[in-house]
Amino acid sequence: MYHSVILAIESSCDDTSAAICADGKILANVIAGQKVHEQWGGVVPELASRAHQQNIVPVVNAAISQAGINREDVTTVAFTRGPGLIGSLLVGVSFAKAFALAQHLPLVEVNHMQAHVLAHFIDSRPKFPFLCLTVSGGHTQLVLVKDYLQMEIVGETLDDAAGEAFDKTAKLLGLPYPGGPMMDKLAKQGNATSFRFPEPQVGENEFSFSGLKTSVLYFLQKETKANPNFVEQNLADLCASIQKTIVDILLKKTEHIAKKYSTTEIALAGGVSANSELRERFTALGVKNNWGVYIPAFEYCTDNAAMIAIAAHYKCLDKKFASQQTEPLARYAL
Ligand code: KG4
Ligand code: ZN
Repeated sequence: MYHSVILAIESSCDDTSAAICADGKILANVIAGQKVHEQWGGVVPELASRAHQQNIVPVVNAAISQAGINREDVTTVAFTRGPGLIGSLLVGVSFAKAFALAQHLPLVEVNHMQAHVLAHFIDSRPKFPFLCLTVSGGHTQLVLVKDYLQMEIVGETLDDAAGEAFDKTAKLLGLPYPGGPMMDKLAKQGNATSFRFPEPQVGENEFSFSGLKTSVLYFLQKETKANPNFVEQNLADLCASIQKTIVDILLKKTEHIAKKYSTTEIALAGGVSANSELRERFTALGVKNNWGVYIPAFEYCTDNAAMIAIAAHYKCLDKKFASQQTEPLARYAL
């Protein structure tokens, strides 16, 4: 039998997820997406909380049954405390507390951004210290990871996150939300040198993506005035050119900061790490510099409870438990 069985809950944005981690091994990772937001072109917080409310019980039951365990086998309950949408977090936090109370179990609270980084330890083992580029819908961070629970942000965005840069420019091209995966797919058929967009002039520890969005907007306004069919006639080339600009910005900073901190291991995390060009070129960057490269499996890139479970596993080893009074945090520093 297992020594420790963690039930982990993730509900920070628009995915309801539950995972089971037994003695550091993921036995199940169930994720229910929310289609309801597509028609609005972005996540509507109120609708997200309601959908979490509908999904949470079936998702947890599915995780328990996929793991081949019984509810009584769970020894610890973990949950995402933040950062995220407060209404969405509340559903997961309340469920976790209720489950723990009913089964007389200890609780572990997890920082979502820390969990994205620790997702690497699900099936690989980067050596400390390593530099992790965490790129999601809400964050763009370069994190110096000194130990499982000891991390320092050494680079951050001043404005939009990389995922937002994908989603907002995709929206300007008329693509449905979330635009990142669609842009990735279309870019494969396009020529990335067709159009050039400016890169931001910011400090060495900073990213910025709002200028890209504005320059794409003005460029499209100008071109569609001359040719109303400009976007549809050049869609793949536009996607490839925008994607290349975003990836260029991310890689340049990663290389600079890795050299500055003399790290020889680089890792990618967060939803945008599902992007195929970023994965390919990030790997090439490592090969060029003779650095170790770590990229999580697709299912552990976007939001998932397996990463919450693995983070909780390390917190349990450190005996870092939470009380029933723990509240969710919309903002939660690393
Ligand atoms: O980490 P995540 O699942 O949720 C947040 O915590 O934000 O990241 C979601 C973001 C979205 O902006 C989505 O467009 C982006 O990840 N994304 C991608 C790809 N798959 C997901 N961006 C570019 N290419 C992809 N293949
Ligand atoms: Zn995330």
